[in-house]
Amino acid sequence: MQDIIQKYGIIGKSEVIQNIIKSIDQVAKTDISVLITGDSGTGKELVAKAIHQQSLRKHSPYITVNCGAIPSGTMESELFGHKKGSFTDAMENRKGFFETADGGTILLDEIAEMPLGVQVKLLRTLEQGEITKVGESIPRKVNVRILASTNKNLQEEVSKENFRKDLYYRLKTITINVPTLSKRREDIPLLADAFMMEYADKNNLAYKPFSPNSIKILQEYYWPGNIRELRNFVQLAFIFEKDTKIRPETVNEHLNIENDQTNYDTRFPVRVNKDSETVERELILRQLFVLRQEVEDIKKMLESNINVNNYRQNQLMDISNVMKNIQNVTDEKDFENDDQETKTMQEMEKELIQNTLKVFHGNKKKTAKALKIGERTLYRKINQYDLK
Ligand SMILES: Nc1ncnc2c1ncn2[C@@H]1O[C@H](COP(=O)(O)OP(=O)(O)OP(=O)(O)O)[C@@H](O)[C@H]1O
Ligand SMILES: [Mg+2]
Repeated sequence: MQDIIQKYGIIGKSEVIQNIIKSIDQVAKTDISVLITGDSGTGKELVAKAIHQQSLRKHSPYITVNCGAIPSGTMESELFGHKKGSFTDAMENRKGFFETADGGTILLDEIAEMPLGVQVKLLRTLEQGEITKVGESIPRKVNVRILASTNKNLQEEVSKENFRKDLYYRLKTITINVPTLSKRREDIPLLADAFMMEYADKNNLAYKPFSPNSIKILQEYYWPGNIRELRNFVQLAFIFEKDTKIRPETVNEHLNIENDQTNYDTRFPVRVNKDSETVERELILRQLFVLRQEVEDIKKMLESNINVNNYRQNQLMDISNVMKNIQNVTDEKDFENDDQETKTMQEMEKELIQNTLKVFHGNKKKTAKALKIGERTLYRKINQYDLK
């Protein structure tokens, strides 16, 4: 086991991580807005949170707004609030996220998804420090530090006219770019170890170290899903490993190394020497891990948002319902292939499909998509389990 090198919850010893920490230290105490860029799963939200927590605003609210998750028609009122009667559904006055975050920090996550009309208003807030509620004409002052993040190339979005040039230039003055994991491979052992400890701790299980050879495989892999993928993989390895340490065979079996980089897709099992039932079940299990991680991420996001609207709450409820039935199964450590176990796996597969169908009101296309299986497989499973 090695000593975990981390600051502000950001693990890593690579030069890029050290530079990111330096940037955080430099900007945190100011009120400057910061743009955080980087591929999906690289740790942008972690950086944003660190900036807030090191700032003078740390005891004030920190609100994350996922611009990609809010329907574009309601984004303006979600952000800036609205006056009662300003549109059909505006039954009462409503505070927007900016007002809720007053005195603190707001993270505008996936900012590239913000509609152009709302971008104009945001620019104004950035420049004047004021907001205008929907249905009002007089602006009011807010004291909010603005952070924005994106995994898209904003410059490209500007040239495609999806993003306003003036806003882009205003935002990009201070940019922190979080590089992909493959650009900081020296951090992989630290991260894998830390995630392993965290997982073992959380579940009250004995820590299973990665053997030196298995760490080597992890370091050679290119991690298209970055740290998020590594974190999910560590859990997967822990669960599938029957030994007391993680062996290279287990890593090889569950990492899609054979896949060509351009065709990479974690959803497709690459092992062909297993019967199709086993392969399919593993595929669904893998999906469960991703889902579990996503639910945890959403929960965290919601915890930091005081102002959760019904739309998102319902979405979370739906996902939680699906998760309830699978929680126990993914917590199982051992997947022995005896009859008893197989039966449990089948039951859980059935329940997962049934619940996902319910969430999508029987829509097979959406269900298949959510489970990341083919529609034909879904139909077959529906027949097999006699699902309505
Ligand atoms: N350097 C790091 N040390 C420890 N954990 C990390 C690090 N970087 C990322 N993580 C973890 O990896 C996961 C993904 O990170 P995060 O949510 O910040 O990614 P992101 O860049 O915002 O991705 P996306 O664009 O998909 O939203 C989180 O669980 C986060 O805690
Ligand atoms: Mg994010």
